[in-house]
Amino acid sequence: MKKTVFGRLSDGREVHQYTLTNRLGSVAQIIDYGATVTSLIVPDRNGVMQDVVLGCDSLQGYVDGTAYFGAIVGRYGNRIANGRFQLDGIWYQVSVNDGANHLHGGRIGFNKVLWNVEIPVGSSDPSIRLRYVSRDGEEGYPGTVVLQVTYTLTAKNELRIDYEGTSDKPTVLNPTHHSYFNLSGSFTNPIVAHELQIESDLFTPVDAGLIPTGELAPVENTPMDFRSLTPIGLRIDDPYKQLRFGQGYDHNWVLRDYSGKIRKAAELYEPSSGRVMTVLTDQPGLQFYSGNFLDGKAKGKNGIAYALRTGLCLETQAFPDTPNRPDFPTTTLRPGRTYRQTTIHQFSTR
Ligand code: BGC
Repeated sequence: MKKTVFGRLSDGREVHQYTLTNRLGSVAQIIDYGATVTSLIVPDRNGVMQDVVLGCDSLQGYVDGTAYFGAIVGRYGNRIANGRFQLDGIWYQVSVNDGANHLHGGRIGFNKVLWNVEIPVGSSDPSIRLRYVSRDGEEGYPGTVVLQVTYTLTAKNELRIDYEGTSDKPTVLNPTHHSYFNLSGSFTNPIVAHELQIESDLFTPVDAGLIPTGELAPVENTPMDFRSLTPIGLRIDDPYKQLRFGQGYDHNWVLRDYSGKIRKAAELYEPSSGRVMTVLTDQPGLQFYSGNFLDGKAKGKNGIAYALRTGLCLETQAFPDTPNRPDFPTTTLRPGRTYRQTTIHQFSTR
């Protein structure tokens, strides 16, 4: 485990980068600002080690950026309609930062704060634990939430993310990890040649503001059908209303077999490198976002400008706008209970 200074915030606090290296030579780098994965280096089918996540060259890029590169987002990952919801008969207004809606925790979400770091003892795989205390009222949310996120780089080339959260008042909690993946080895390659499979028969259609309508719609006979491995670019520009709303894919899929146990959620395959990323999770949903808002303005690592659809996110989560949808799997966290999530990004080749 290597620890280096990554930069300094305007209030003088230092931000550190931690480098996890496993026995296979794969590397994950994480900074305590936003609990952000800044690089993830894994082999292609010829053993060539390359970075597969988009990110920024310096701390300032993460501080100023709006793309959530590699961060943990929260308290609520994804959207809450109008930033309003009712809990135990009380209405809450959380910050509105995406048109009329709340997105990814608000103006200063978990991606824009400095976390505390602990190095777990006795873990055989390189691992880092980050902790953030979100005070009562932050961004409009009730209750003080303590969230711990542990990243582990296992000997099987898995980046494992374990979440544990508590609150002293009833609140909502739905954090997720927001890495933009591009398995090709070059961030100038669009992700449309990647092939994707999602363990899902249904998705949650949205309105023009990307808020679920409440319906669970079959993917069958639509461009949302990823039941078998399908090139992402095959249907992305089809004249299909849902794709127009997202300017591409930006939707939540209802994962099969939700029971709280970890199971496969998705597989991503990049034919030129042979890299495969299998995503496993205990969550009910998966947001597949095809990088439709990357516009070449944000300069990333090595000065590369991230053009349209050069990275994609697979965000394991509860469904968007659940606080306003009592029929969706709950995101309510009560005092005395513990929020838990485990998500695994497993890398292999073929
Ligand atoms: C959302 C997109 C949003 C992006 C921000 C994704 O998780 O689904 O709608 O634009 O995050 O980078």
